[in-house]
Amino acid sequence: MVVNSISGNTFLHWRRSMMLKGGRKVDFDWLLDIAAGVSWRKLQNIILNPDKCFSLEIPIEEIEVIWESHLKDNTPLQYLISKCPWRDFELEVSAHALIPRQETEFLIDIALKKVDNINAGRWADLGTGSGPIAISLAKSLPNWKGHAVDISKGALQLAKRNLEILVPQSNVKFFLGDWWEPLEKLWGSFDLVLSNPPYIPSDLIEDLEPVVKNHEPLIALDGGEDGMNASRKIILGALNGLAKGGWLILEHHYDQSEKITSFMKNIGMEEVSFEKDLSGIKRYAICRRK
Ligand SMILES: C[S@@+](CC[C@H](N)C(=O)[O-])C[C@H]1O[C@@H](n2cnc3c(N)ncnc32)[C@H](O)[C@@H]1O
Repeated sequence: MVVNSISGNTFLHWRRSMMLKGGRKVDFDWLLDIAAGVSWRKLQNIILNPDKCFSLEIPIEEIEVIWESHLKDNTPLQYLISKCPWRDFELEVSAHALIPRQETEFLIDIALKKVDNINAGRWADLGTGSGPIAISLAKSLPNWKGHAVDISKGALQLAKRNLEILVPQSNVKFFLGDWWEPLEKLWGSFDLVLSNPPYIPSDLIEDLEPVVKNHEPLIALDGGEDGMNASRKIILGALNGLAKGGWLILEHHYDQSEKITSFMKNIGMEEVSFEKDLSGIKRYAICRRK
């Protein structure tokens, strides 16, 4: 809803004054776009026509409060505005769950290609967080049965709310627990399992940016000594959990591809391969149960 009208000149002057307070311009412009409806295109229009008036979706005073909170203790803007755009939708986010990352978007494209010949199957999203993977699968595979698991109650509640709003007619159930465990009754029936597990080696957590390490849940980041504790558990579980011919697709840290794909091969998985992210980094490991 439009609540505020402002001249381009006043707005641009205010934007410059906000930048002098600190922070990254790219983050401030992201905030203007997502919270106040000033897209990059709209911003260029304002710069070209500074004498014209235009509308903001929230008052500048509110944007100022959000920006100052962000500068004060590095709270991620997504948590401050409770929103994060991801693929073709916008999620509610909170400090209960990781802020969905851009590289995870590609996991969905890889998965959809693998199962484009199956009209109705069963998928699971292990470690659903705020639910981005589950919601994408529910949207793209409407005839499938979906299962979203997380060990964090807060994350699971958030994912449920997001799914109810974004895909109200979906066939997705939520499970609280440790990776494959809460799905035990359905082991052997999953055609597709996706996971973006915590995969950062414990001793690297301290080196993360404050905006990440001081605010995002440790349980969503810390993958243990070599970063692969969760990945190994998920891959081993897939030996029983997947249906014959079912796919497992995992996101991992930038330097784990060889170790994870070797582990998949060593335990007897088939059609083991990897995919690179948009920066050319081997980021996704893929395998299939015999
Ligand atoms: C890296 S986050 C990914 C969240 C979401 N899938 C995404 O891509 O934004 C990992 C998720 O795994 C969950 N998790 C951590 N340990 C778990 C466990 N033992 N069993 C199930 N989920 C777990 C965390 O709570 C977190 O939500």
